[in-house]
Amino acid sequence: MGISWKKRFEIGVEEIDKQHKELFEQTERLLKACQEKRGSEELESLLEFLGNYVQTHFETEEKLQKKYNYPDYKEHKKAHNDFVKKIEEFKQEFKEGKKNVASLMRLNRTITRWLVNHIKKEDQGLGDYIKGNS
Ligand SMILES: [Fe+2]
Repeated sequence: MGISWKKRFEIGVEEIDKQHKELFEQTERLLKACQEKRGSEELESLLEFLGNYVQTHFETEEKLQKKYNYPDYKEHKKAHNDFVKKIEEFKQEFKEGKKNVASLMRLNRTITRWLVNHIKKEDQGLGDYIKGNS
């Protein structure tokens, strides 16, 4: 298990690519902490940190989409909102102490898969659109 940034994830918009890299690093930190079975407090604060960064990042993308009148804004925003909801659910589970090996594995898989798929599809589409319109 693990997540590492690859050049092929770049969408060609510097600000977004930079934030995506940072997202990967923070996710990697959380995955490592899970694997090393660090304490709940540390896991919770890493997840909190990641959740906050995700929000900031989504806001950046959405602002750019508005600026460029991106036609898929609505769908893209919905995908973002769904992911934020997922992270909130995990945060809640953590707080309620429902954290076990299975839920941590699910958290890892969910975040990793979502990030990679979303970047390769939706964000790449956004990158192509911005490049074609600027
Ligand atoms: Fe996105």
